[in-house]
Amino acid sequence: MKLRAPARALIPTLIATSVLAASPALAQTVKIGFISTYSGPGAAQGDQLDRGVKLFMKLRGNELPPGVKVEIITRDDTGANPDVAKRITQELIVRDKVQLLTGIVWTPNAAAIAPLTAEAKVPFVSMNASGALILNQSPYMARLSFTLWQSAYPLGQWAAKQYKRAYTAVTDYAPGHEAEEGFIRAFKESGGEVVGSVRIPLANPDFVPYMQRIKDAKPDALFAFNPAGKSATAMMKAYGDLGLAKAGIRYIGTGDITTDEELQNMGDEALGVMTVHHYSAAADRPANKAFVAAYHKEFGDNQNPGFMVVDAWDTMDALFTAIREQGGKIDPDRTMDILKRYRNTNSPRGTVSIDPATREVINPEYLREVRRVNGKLANVELETITTAIKDPLKELTQKK
Ligand code: PHB
Repeated sequence: MKLRAPARALIPTLIATSVLAASPALAQTVKIGFISTYSGPGAAQGDQLDRGVKLFMKLRGNELPPGVKVEIITRDDTGANPDVAKRITQELIVRDKVQLLTGIVWTPNAAAIAPLTAEAKVPFVSMNASGALILNQSPYMARLSFTLWQSAYPLGQWAAKQYKRAYTAVTDYAPGHEAEEGFIRAFKESGGEVVGSVRIPLANPDFVPYMQRIKDAKPDALFAFNPAGKSATAMMKAYGDLGLAKAGIRYIGTGDITTDEELQNMGDEALGVMTVHHYSAAADRPANKAFVAAYHKEFGDNQNPGFMVVDAWDTMDALFTAIREQGGKIDPDRTMDILKRYRNTNSPRGTVSIDPATREVINPEYLREVRRVNGKLANVELETITTAIKDPLKELTQKK
C-alpha cells in the first residue's frame, strides 16, 4: 500500500475541522495510534506499555481542554516483526487517520515505520524502542524511553573501578550492539580489559552454552543486555544454574536485565546484581511512591511497574501536553516543536526531558543493586550517577 500525503488533506476533513473549531461545544477527538506487542514471546514487554497507557488514561485521561477527547487505537505488532509494524502503521495512518503515533517495544519495528512518519507527517513518540539511530530517520520522531548508551556507558566507567576483566553478552540486534559498544568503550577508556564478547540471538535464546563459555573464561564481571521481559529471567537463571555467581563472576548490566516486573521471578541469583538504569520501582522519590501506589491499586500489590510502564506513562504525558497546547487541533510541526520543549520534573524516574537538537530523551541514571527489602527483591538505588544524560553515542560520535 502506498501512502499519499494528499489523502490526509482531503477537503471534507478540512471543512469538518473548521466547523469543530468554530463550535467548541462539539467534541474534538484526537486519534492516537498505539502499537504494542500483544502476542508471541514479546507479549510480556508489550503488556508493560499497555499498562502504562491504561493507567494514564484512567487517572489522567481527562486532563484535556473542554470538548477535546482522545481516542486510543491499539494494534498488535506481534513482536520484533518490521513488516507487521509497517502494515499496521500504514493502516493507522491511511484508514484510521490517526494524528499521533506511539508505543513500539522493538527497535527494528520503529526503524521500519520511520519513513512512514516522515512521509505522512504523523509524529511518533517511542515508548520503548531505543536504538539510538532511529530518530535520524525521521524529523517526526521523538523518544521518551532511553538509549542503551545512557546506561551502558556510565556502567562501564563505574565497572572499571571495581573489576579488571569483563566479558560481554548481549542480544544480537541494534540495542544489544549499542549496549555492548557503550560498555566496552567506557570500560576500556577507564582502564578495564574485555576478555570476550558474545552476541545471543533475539529469537528463542538458549543462554546455557554462552554461560558455560563465559564461566570458562573466568572474567571478574559479566556485562549483559537482554530485552527485559522473560528473556531477563531466563538469562538470570542460566547465570545462577551454571554457577557463575559461585565462581565469583559478578553479573552487571543495563537495568533491562533486572526489570522490576520480573524481579521476583528471578530468585536469589539476582541478589547483588549491579545495574545502571533510569528507573527503579524501589526508588523513594515522592512521585515514584505515588506512582507505584497507584500501580498496586490498579494491578495488585504483588505487581511492580517495570521501566516500560513508566516510559509509556511519561510518553502519554508528553502527548497530552502537545494536545492541550494546541487545543486539540494537531499540527505535526507544532507538535514536534512542543515535544522538543518537553520537560517533566515530576516523573517517577526523576526529571525527564527531550533534547531539542536531537529529539532524544534526556534521562537521570542511577546505580542500583538488587537487594532484599521487606522480603522482596528490589533494585535499590545506591547513587544518582547523573540527573540528566544526553545520549552519549550521539554526543561522542555525531557532534563535530
Ligand atoms: C528495543 O528493541 O529497542 C528494546 C527492547 C527491549 C528492551 C530494550 C530495548 O529492554
